[in-house]
Amino acid sequence: MTTRTFRVWRGDKSGGEFRDYEVPIDEGMVVLDVVHRIQATQAPDLAVRWNCKAGKCGSCSCEINGKPRLSCMTRMDTLPAEGPITVQPIKTFPVIRDLVTDVAWNYRQKRRIPGFRPRPRNPDGTYRMQQEDVDRIQEFRKCIECYLCQDVCHVLRDQGKLDKFVGPRFMIYLANQEMHPLDNADRIPAVRRDFGSGYCNITKCCTEVCPEGIHITDNAIIPLKERVVDRFYDPIAAIVRLVRDKPTKEPAPALDPD
Ligand code: SF4
Ligand code: SF4
Ligand code: FES
Repeated sequence: MTTRTFRVWRGDKSGGEFRDYEVPIDEGMVVLDVVHRIQATQAPDLAVRWNCKAGKCGSCSCEINGKPRLSCMTRMDTLPAEGPITVQPIKTFPVIRDLVTDVAWNYRQKRRIPGFRPRPRNPDGTYRMQQEDVDRIQEFRKCIECYLCQDVCHVLRDQGKLDKFVGPRFMIYLANQEMHPLDNADRIPAVRRDFGSGYCNITKCCTEVCPEGIHITDNAIIPLKERVVDRFYDPIAAIVRLVRDKPTKEPAPALDPD
């Protein structure tokens, strides 16, 4: 058994500081185990959010040695063997206490996105889809809403443009709706106007931290941005649409004012 120094941020919305804890480490521990050991033996008032301890609920997001991670999936033997290990709350959202942040802004963004609107059934009463269209959106459904991508996105984290851009997690959600083979709502004007697709400059930091390995930028954001460009910034496509195309989707319903 070794002993490590854990430097844990303690405080609330009025301010805080890092405090050091010397903790015995057993083989096979993850960072959340160590936080629980601190809570059990040295700091019973330490606030930490967790639930599944299996990388599936997205509750235990924090920053470990400055990197957004799930604490239940970060094994101690993957961290540097020397020096203190820092654990702090995710930065993009306001702190409630210690390692717990208020992520309610994300729930409000999800409510703003118009829900699934299925197209009418085929004349024989069925819905038919191509398997490749089904496969394309499966990846987006793996999201566990840990908000690590929201935490690392510089548009939200450093520029604070929470009133302009919904962030990578909800670009995925928009892509899931827009690319759904049965969905009949035209979401492209809203992707540009209401959800701020233009603010993303494709740095791919979100993709790098996603614990589910979702190709956020390549498979969701870039295709959405391409659809926006085709619709609003390609004059030839606009003329072709005017002369030849009929709209195939209905305008998405008005946004929830919340
Ligand atoms: S690729 Fe876009 S959404 Fe992802 S972190 Fe960069 S700016 Fe944010
Ligand atoms: S896309 Fe990945 S990083 Fe973002 S909330 Fe979902 S699971 Fe977490
Ligand atoms: S506790 Fe559920 S993802 Fe970590």
